Parts: sequence; C-alpha cells; structure tokens
Amino acid sequence: MPPGKRFEPKEPVHLDLPKDDPISVEELSKCDGTDPSRPTFVAIKGIVFDVGKNPAYGPEGKYHVFAGKDPSRALATSSLKAEDCIPKWDDLEEKDIKVLDDWYTFFSNRYSIVGKVEG
Ligand code: HEM
Repeated sequence: MPPGKRFEPKEPVHLDLPKDDPISVEELSKCDGTDPSRPTFVAIKGIVFDVGKNPAYGPEGKYHVFAGKDPSRALATSSLKAEDCIPKWDDLEEKDIKVLDDWYTFFSNRYSIVGKVEG
C-alpha cells in the first residue's frame, strides 16, 4: 500500500483545517471528556486532536485514559497505564517511535487538529 493510503478510515472523514492555537497543559487536562461544556482532546507529540466524536475517549470509554493528555509514551509502547500517558518518547527504541508515528498518522486521518500543546 502506498504510504499515503495507510491507516485510512473505512468511511471518508470530514476534517477541519488544522489549527495552530497554543493549548496549555492545564486546558488540555480539562478537555478529558468529563465536562460536557468542553471538547475532548488527545495530543500526540504535542499536536492536539479533537476526538470528541468517538465515545471511546469519553468517561465510560475504553481509551478514556488518553483523554485530556499527551499520551505519546503509552501509544508508542501499547500501554493503557496512566503513568505512561506522558509526552516523553525521545528515549524510546526506534521501533516504538515508529508505532507512535503510525498512531499519529491514524489520528491525522480521523480527527481534526485543533492546536499544539504550549511550552
Ligand atoms: C485486548 C487488547 C486490545 C484490543 C482487543 C483492542 C481493540 C481495538 C479495536 C477493535 C479498535 C478499533 C480499530 C479501528 O477503529 O480501526 C481499537 C482502537 C484503538 N486502540 Fe485498541 N485494543 C486493545 C489494546 C490496546 C492498547 C494496549 C492500546 C494502547 C496504546 C490501544 C489503543 C488503541 C487506540 C488509540 C485506538 C484508536 C481508537 C480511535 O481513535 O479510533 N488498544 N482497539
């Protein structure tokens, strides 16, 4: 499969134009799906995606542990542990960083980019 076609969703997804707004870690943490007045965000390598359309990230969802965070380390290492949901991936093995990059592609194909984690 050509690289551009990998991890494409089964159904076409409408994505908004990517935004470059700074989002603080504190604001990100509030966007964990528990506050109905806020969106639900997941960041990967500092880039923030709006995942609100997927209940998997909501309060009852299987992947709620990722919501309101940058869980790059957990995604890279296939972990669902809260302590791994941190934006530290530079010390990981190359194969894990490849997995993380694949998740970035997966999210880019499904969720709109709403900003970047500040700092
Ligand atoms: C018993 C083990 C697991 C099973 C059976 C499972 C199953 C699934 C299934 C069926 C999907 C949907 C795939 C799709 O939409 O194409 C999915 C998505 C996903 N899984 Fe797992 N998974 C497991 C473990 C994990 C672990 C350990 C992680 C940690 C990184 C993980 C992270 C994710 C993520 C981030 C998604 C994408 C959700 C989305 O935004 O669509 N999963 N999983």
